Amino acid sequence: MLKFGVIGFGYWGPNIVRNLRALEGCAVVGVCDHSPTARKRLQASHPGVAVHCDPRDLLTSPDVDAIAVITPVWTHYELAKAALENGKHVFVEKPFTSNVAQAEELINLAEQKKLLIMVDHTFLFTGAVRKIKKLLEEGMLGKLYYYDSMRVNLGLSQHDCNVIWDLAPHDLSIMNHLLHEDAEAISATGQSHWNGHEDIAFITAYFPDRLIAHVNVNWISPVKVRTTLIGGEKKMLVWNDLEADEKLKVYDKGVDVKSQEGVYNLLVSYRSGDMWAPQVEQVEALRLEMQYFVECIKNNERPFNDGCAGLKVVRMLEAANESLAKRGELVYV
Ligand SMILES: NC(=O)c1ccc[n+]([C@@H]2O[C@H](COP(=O)([O-])OP(=O)(O)OC[C@H]3O[C@@H](n4cnc5c(N)ncnc54)[C@H](O)[C@@H]3O)[C@@H](O)[C@H]2O)c1
Repeated sequence: MLKFGVIGFGYWGPNIVRNLRALEGCAVVGVCDHSPTARKRLQASHPGVAVHCDPRDLLTSPDVDAIAVITPVWTHYELAKAALENGKHVFVEKPFTSNVAQAEELINLAEQKKLLIMVDHTFLFTGAVRKIKKLLEEGMLGKLYYYDSMRVNLGLSQHDCNVIWDLAPHDLSIMNHLLHEDAEAISATGQSHWNGHEDIAFITAYFPDRLIAHVNVNWISPVKVRTTLIGGEKKMLVWNDLEADEKLKVYDKGVDVKSQEGVYNLLVSYRSGDMWAPQVEQVEALRLEMQYFVECIKNNERPFNDGCAGLKVVRMLEAANESLAKRGELVYV
């Protein structure tokens, strides 16, 4: 039986506790939150689980094998470090840490202690992303041209980070998981309107071989949009995460170049064929992810969404923030 301690029972923590408690071979031995309101909610929803106010109760407990850190990003490093130092595996929320140096230190510490880190990049476990990955691996889209994603709504603006650090980790982790290549350079622009943290931002990432990616994140949009376009030489894909049924659509559309003898003689034809909506498995992504973490610990296997995957995202976030401060200047990653 793998025993978990969970730190943080705000908005996202309850999902972690619920999923961990539903898994076989795993137990939640305690949950900690600074906030009395959060502790009261925990007692009401999980009466059998021990409640703590001080994270050290769980971090140092010999009865805990793994710690889940479900607190704001600026606390991740300190809590994850203490967990690793006390010999616990770590499941930590996205974004992994507040900067690259912290992420590197945690990765080295886990390596030394032979412990695992998993960063919660939940979307990688959704039916949609798993299906897109399969289609790309089968070469259905051909050589990729672009990845373009829009994640906007009238949302909870955070007080401790800008919209890039809040929403873009989803898109950047999906991009890194699907595209196989690492971004070479990033340019980002954005604007803050109230508290000094940008509430709208546009990130462009340049990949090798003319592959380009764009992410639009926004907390002040009147409507919610969660749409990603992936364009390839052979086919193009649209993922609308708000669709209940046909979340994915693959279009047999594209541009065929007939002759390339100089720009004036360039002959192209537009292809417009069928559309296909592939079947997407409907399972709770977080359930699959937690199950995978438990299996990785049992089999002593490194998860694909490990500290290094988290670090890659933090590196891109840092580059985006640096570019943002210079009004879009290109920053090499
Ligand atoms: N994977 C996802 O899809 C997803 C979704 C939402 C949030 N998140 C991430 O989850 C994390 C938490 O976000 P949230 O929206 O739940 O935040 P939140 O502010 O609603 O909740 C955080 C909770 O942690 C508690 N806390 C903070 N520091 C603590 C400490 N040192 N010890 C004990 N308790 C402490 C707070 O009292 C609060 O109840 C963030 O990193 C966020 O990016 C991930």
